[in-house]
Formats: sequence, C-alpha cells, structure tokens
Amino acid sequence: MINELIINKPDDMHLHLREGEILGFVLKDTARQFARAIVMPNLNTPVTTVALAESYYESIKDYGYNFEPLMTLYLTDALSKTEIRKAKDSKIIHGVKLYPAGVTTNSKNGIVSVDSCFDLFEEMEKNDLPLLVHGEVSDPKVDIFDREKMFIDKYLTRICENFPSLRLVFEHISTKDAVEFVVNSSSKVAATITPQHAMLSRNDLLSGGVKPHNYCLPVLKREIHQKVILEAAISGNSKFFLGIDSAPHLTSEKESACGCAGIYSAKTAIELYAEIFDKNDALDKLSDFSNKFGADFYNLPYNEEKIRLIRKEYQIPQQLEFNNNQITPFLAGQTIHWQIS
Ligand code: NCD
Ligand code: ZN
Repeated sequence: MINELIINKPDDMHLHLREGEILGFVLKDTARQFARAIVMPNLNTPVTTVALAESYYESIKDYGYNFEPLMTLYLTDALSKTEIRKAKDSKIIHGVKLYPAGVTTNSKNGIVSVDSCFDLFEEMEKNDLPLLVHGEVSDPKVDIFDREKMFIDKYLTRICENFPSLRLVFEHISTKDAVEFVVNSSSKVAATITPQHAMLSRNDLLSGGVKPHNYCLPVLKREIHQKVILEAAISGNSKFFLGIDSAPHLTSEKESACGCAGIYSAKTAIELYAEIFDKNDALDKLSDFSNKFGADFYNLPYNEEKIRLIRKEYQIPQQLEFNNNQITPFLAGQTIHWQIS
C-alpha cells in the first residue's frame, strides 16, 4: 500500500476565485496546494478586456502568495480581434472563455449566437490563444441532462472542423458523450475533470432528499456517465487534466428555494483527487494528471516545487466561517484519507 506520494506542485486548470473579500478567503486554500490556476472571468462585472484582466491579476497577486494566476477573457459579442491580439501579447492571459448566455452563474453577458463568434475563433486560432468552453446549450426548452450532448452536436463539432488548429478545452465534462468527443478529436482538444463529476452521480444530488451542496453545472448525470469520466481521469490520456471548478457561494445562497450552482471544493482539492485515484488503484497517474498534462496543453513550464501527500484521515469541516456567514465545503463532514503534509 502506498502511504506517501511526492509530486510536483499541481496546477488547477479551472477555478473561480471571485472578487472582494471572498477572494482572499478562497485564495489561501488554493495557494496552499496549487502553483498556478486558470482563473475564470465570470465576475459580477465580467473580465472582458485585457485591462480588466490585468487589474484582476494584480488584485490576486496583491495577497502575496507564491501562486501564479493564469488569466482568461470572457467572450462577448463585443470582443474585438484587436483585443484578442492584445490578450496574446499580454503574457498573463491564457485563454478566452465562452459561456452561452444564461447557462450558469454570472453568464448573462455570455454568447447568444455561437455562430456569430466564428470570426473571433479564427483570430484565436491564428494567435494560438485557447478557447475554453462551458459546453452546454442554454436553451431552457432543452432538458438539463441533455444540454452538454446538444452543445457537442450543435456547436463543438463544427467549431473543431472549422478551426482545426484552435486549442480548445471542453470544461468540466459531465457525460460519456463529452469523453468520446475529446478522445476522438485532434490533439488540440482537451478537457478538465472535476472531483464531483468523477465521484458522484445524480443520485447523490436527488435521491433521499435534495443535496444542494452537490449542485453544480453541468449538473451531475447518471452513474454510467460518472464511470466514464472517472476512467478518463485515471486513464493516463494527456487530453484529460485537473480543473476543479471550485465555485464558492454562501451556504444560505445554496440552501435556498432557488439555490446557486457551484461547489466549493478548493478546501481539499488535491486531496480529493488523491482519494479518487487511490480508490481506483491509479495513484501512479495522479502526478501527470495534476501537474503535467495541463501544463503541456497550455505550453507552460513544469513546476519545480514539490508537495508531499500522506495517507492520513481528515474530516472535512461541516462549515467554513466567512465574514459572519458560512460556506459549506464539498463533502462537508465526510472523512477522506489523504492530506498534504
Ligand atoms: C460556476 C460558478 O458558480 O461560477 N458554477 C458551477 O456550477 N460550476 C460557473 C460554472 O463554471 O459553470
Ligand atoms: Zn466553472
């Protein structure tokens, strides 16, 4: 039995840090474990320009952690080709995030017509700036469990056909259709995998009472999908890498008649992945998944600093106190078996 694992410090290739006081609160959890993270741009005022990304970058760096935020731009119809070239030249921006309008938290400024963005995709392809997609259609008439598959059929296939050199990340994949799409696409197409989509199915959300702290988007799917996601994560295929999609909301906003989508999983992030890989006899695959495949995709150097993971029980707190409020961490109250030492 392996009881200790020393790996290069991991990168989180999909993270929500928010802004204001909560930023400092969640950043300490991420900086403890990760060298870098792809920081999502869906703030209340979305990060739509290089100038906004620079100021957001500074506000993260101001906390003084040994942590490098990898910034992203929020794709809107108003994004210009000039801004895409500026983003590429900025060195701090590593991708452009596409949210279909209305699909998830803070996406109201997203894209209404994907087809109208083809000019911008062409410019991103030319400049080798990755496109990061929230791959679900936002049409309220489409069943919520079918929205990812529909996005593949309606848009992703065509985007990849038209822009074969465009680097594209299919974020937080939740279906076997998404895994198959990524496996069958060129080496330019990759995907991030969250702990919840590898560990849980929709029964963990809906059976025996609604579990709002397991609610995120894309919503958890049938177990058959979960199994395929898990297999992809531990497969050693370099197209699949770590992106936790930690997305903090106050406990009161999740335990509500209309609860927010998003799971706060950054409290125990690499430990959760260690738990998953260990349970499936794949600890030897954790290092590449967490610090190599993502870096390769984003053309980043490998982190040299190491972390040491040890087999030791840890009970995830029921609540985290934040500013006279609470945030409920993912798997609150449950015991996991790995810790950073
Ligand atoms: C994210 C958030 O809260 O910002 N929520 C989520 O359920 N994952 C947005 C997103 O990534 O969809
Ligand atoms: Zn996200």
